[in-house]
Amino acid sequence: MEQVPGESPDYDPRVTRHFLTGEEITSAELRALLERATELKADRQASKALAGRSVALVFDQPSTRTRVSFEVGVSELGGHAVVLREGELQLSRGESPRDTAAVLSRLVHAIGVRTGAHALVEELAAHSDVPVVNLLTRDHHPCQALADLLTLRERFGELAGLRLAYVGDGNNVAHSLMVLGAKAGLEVVVATPAELAPHPLVGQVAGAGAGEGGSITLTNTAAEAARGARALYTDVWVSMGDAPSRGAGEDDGRRELLEPFRLDEALMDAAAPDAVALHCLPAHPGDEITEGVLYGQRSAVWDQAENRLHAQKALMELLVSR
Ligand code: CP
Ligand code: NVA
Repeated sequence: MEQVPGESPDYDPRVTRHFLTGEEITSAELRALLERATELKADRQASKALAGRSVALVFDQPSTRTRVSFEVGVSELGGHAVVLREGELQLSRGESPRDTAAVLSRLVHAIGVRTGAHALVEELAAHSDVPVVNLLTRDHHPCQALADLLTLRERFGELAGLRLAYVGDGNNVAHSLMVLGAKAGLEVVVATPAELAPHPLVGQVAGAGAGEGGSITLTNTAAEAARGARALYTDVWVSMGDAPSRGAGEDDGRRELLEPFRLDEALMDAAAPDAVALHCLPAHPGDEITEGVLYGQRSAVWDQAENRLHAQKALMELLVSR
């Protein structure tokens, strides 16, 4: 089987306790996870699945939502989070991922990692006896997609057949929406400039893993994607993992390419009348999304941010029970 970007040939997402791309769980498990997340949202103290257990949370890059939602989530599940920021592990001084994973596995019951290279989380997972969770890599952000699906489930009930349009950069967030959205039965339509399209192998993997009638469609026209969509989703034009030459303030043509993909009022009006606006945050109002849409009546972004907590608690319950 061909692998998505960064995946080593030794990594088989079908036989694992890890959660690196979202391929690791079945459509049925995803459905159950979202149901469980809804229960945990109704009663935040309902589960003590991590009682007496510890979770290492490694952050090589900044984070607001992921850091806080995981740390609070571990605590609410009765566990203890050990948060390690860039430079605090000997990994930063050359200790190997293999040795790091072996040692952490002896000390904690799960490991979460935010870093640039997807290959690093895979290497840690390959040598870890405890579940490894991807807290964002350059290629995937599957925990975000869980919260996004929970948000859509709350708004619309059934996910199967719902049309979600992602507009903008074909990045990690787009990839994870493709993998997990298709698995949940969504009609995922991704509109990007041709130069910034999602990785073709992610499309293949997402299509292969689609469940409950889910599908993936790629286009280069935002309005086409928006037609009939119940959710319009966008993300930043420059991600943390983008090359420095693409850093904010430097115009290398990227901004010009992405301007037609801004999530604005006109695009919202092209979608279904009850459509919601989604964004994983942090946002740059005026760039990928207008202030009016971000803070407007149709925005569901604050629910998305809160739902990180509930979805991830359900995920941690699932992984430690495997
Ligand atoms: N959406 C998201 O992952 O936000 P943070 O970078 O703040 O964790
Ligand atoms: N695509 C963004 C998501 C941030 C949560 C990034 O990788 O920076």
